[in-house]
Amino acid sequence: MVRDYTTALEYLQTFERKDGLSVHELMDSKTRGGLTYNDFLVLPGKIDFTSSKVGLNTKLTKKISLHAPFVSSPMDTVTESEMAIHIALLGGIGIIHHNCTPEVQAEMVRKVKKYENGFINHPKVISPRVTVGEAKAMKQQFGFAGFPVTESGELNSKLIGIITSRDIQFVEDDSLPVSEIMTKEVVTGSQGITLSQGNDILKSTKKGKLPIIDSNGNLVSMLSRTDLMKNKNFPLASKSATTKQLLCGATVGTMPADRERLKLLAEAGLDVVVVDSSQGNSVFQIEMIKWIKENFTEIEVIGGNVVTREQAASLIAAGVDGLRIGMGTGSICITQEVMACGRPQGTAVYNVCSFAKEFGVPCIADGGVQNIGHITKALALGASTAMMGGMLAGTAEAPGEYFYRDGKRLKAYRGMGSIDAVQKTDARGNAATSRYFSENDDVFVAQGVSGSVVDKGSIHKFIPYLYNGLQHSLQDIGVQSLQDLNERVYSGEVRFEFRTASAQLEGGVHNLYSYEKRLHN
Ligand code: IMP
Repeated sequence: MVRDYTTALEYLQTFERKDGLSVHELMDSKTRGGLTYNDFLVLPGKIDFTSSKVGLNTKLTKKISLHAPFVSSPMDTVTESEMAIHIALLGGIGIIHHNCTPEVQAEMVRKVKKYENGFINHPKVISPRVTVGEAKAMKQQFGFAGFPVTESGELNSKLIGIITSRDIQFVEDDSLPVSEIMTKEVVTGSQGITLSQGNDILKSTKKGKLPIIDSNGNLVSMLSRTDLMKNKNFPLASKSATTKQLLCGATVGTMPADRERLKLLAEAGLDVVVVDSSQGNSVFQIEMIKWIKENFTEIEVIGGNVVTREQAASLIAAGVDGLRIGMGTGSICITQEVMACGRPQGTAVYNVCSFAKEFGVPCIADGGVQNIGHITKALALGASTAMMGGMLAGTAEAPGEYFYRDGKRLKAYRGMGSIDAVQKTDARGNAATSRYFSENDDVFVAQGVSGSVVDKGSIHKFIPYLYNGLQHSLQDIGVQSLQDLNERVYSGEVRFEFRTASAQLEGGVHNLYSYEKRLHN
């Protein structure tokens, strides 16, 4: 007998088991071994909202919240100040690498913290003797022209004019000194005015730049209209609630010298420090975490990397505010091959997150993310954020110059445990990083490779692509927020399916003669 169609939902309730597997059944490694993101899928739920309604707010650490779950890896081909500034503007956070001197790293942090601070405290200043040709070259170099002119050509000297694009655009004689063509009637603000007063002057006078002068007419800082516009265009920006500065993270190692490094980073305004180690469960890291918690109460501490509950427990007991999960799954990584240590990332994320959740410690799924689906899966398994290296390498904001090979525009991307990265020396000839080597190692055993990735354009397109993709993905699962996802996964309501090798092939593009994989417009 065929049942009446109107009873379908009722009939469903009579089944003892829900379709698919709960996360706990899926991740039972006794029966299935360690799983990677590609080994399973999330089953679709019910859609009763639009994808734009899906919220992606999350936690990086106990105290730091973000509007988007994206973290850029602390690698010297991924995160320096440019990446950290722009990913923070888009709702994520950048972790600045420490493969450089403490001073250089602190300066990078300072740049992020000063960005969009409203007042530009170190504007590019020129002297009246600079030529029009030189000013045009500066415009090319810095991408803007709005240089205040002071008597000495330095800050804290008498302001005598300003040079803007319009002043130099149609001047053909490049040898003229700027003093002959600069705007001498400059609208200025007085030292001590508030940001909103300065903004009001910029708006009412329709000027691009507002030099700020002290009572003697000396230039002390500047406000820029472009910064005002940036303020408006980034509603998701990750900012400190009190200072309104962008949030910034950075790594340190676990050597005694790293304590001095952290002091400089703290002075530069660091919000969160990541103790960088490929195997985080060490007495050195535990001591470092305790020392940081005692001495820098304002800075959040992320420990790692870990892949087991036992490792996580050590670092949680030491007082971490967040954990970083992953060993040997990064795209440039050969750790599992060389060290025989590590864990498939899906299994690592599930085990550590389900443990850390009990202590309110948010986790970062670090490494192995190749597409939006992997981010969804990391979050579904319990991570609060995803850390990406290879995904963000090759963007305009990643360090390094583009180069061409085989007709493709590329940027270098390398593991921090690659011979290339480890042999990088600072200006004084000191090798910098210690993540993969001990002080007294005289033979380097590489744990990473050095290569290249294709140009991905700006993260101002790429991160919104990830963001929108994630919203659609959560919509398919039938959850409206990351918190909702987490709760419904752990309660067993959101279901999973294991994927056989042939199911994985089926889920990829197949049987085409040729195709082009473009990910966004
Ligand atoms: P990806 O996003 O898959 O490219 O992986 C990036 C992650 O790999 C980083 O965040 C680090 O955790 C890790 N990693 C960076 N350098 C190395 C290395 O040389 N060997 C192993 N893992 C690395």
